[in-house]
Amino acid sequence: MKAVMMGMAMAAVSVAGVAQAEEGLDLAKKSGCLACHAVDKKVVGPAWKDVAARYKGKGDAKATLVDKIKKGGKGNWTDVTGGVAMPPYSPRVPDADIEKLVSFVLSL
Ligand code: HEC
Repeated sequence: MKAVMMGMAMAAVSVAGVAQAEEGLDLAKKSGCLACHAVDKKVVGPAWKDVAARYKGKGDAKATLVDKIKKGGKGNWTDVTGGVAMPPYSPRVPDADIEKLVSFVLSL
């Protein structure tokens, strides 16, 4: 019985994970991010999986990345991009959406 309950709990978690990933990707598409980014390869900007790997375990990762998307910037990924800048997205993309996008990227 316990094992069945555990199995059900785990299935619920993974379904939620998939839903979150799809929502994240949809929002990225809608916000125009996918013109320059992909999950697992470099386009104009770095692959989001590489971004997630670089910031893994850093406490201020979320705040740093939210700020970067709001204001834009360059210089963090010059080795990958050759020095192209990330454009500013605030106020074109609402803050709440930017936070969701960052959570999505960091979850990869
Ligand atoms: C015009 C191309 C372009 C678009 C559109 C774009 N990006 Fe970027 N992005 C870049 C580039 C180039 C970099 C690397 C900047 C650097 O070297 O610091 C980057 C970096 C990033 C980073 C890593 C920042 C860091 O400092 O490590 C994140 C996260 C990110 N982008 C998310 C997004 C999201 C979310 C969107 C949509 C709202 C988006 N990008 C749209 C080009 C783009």
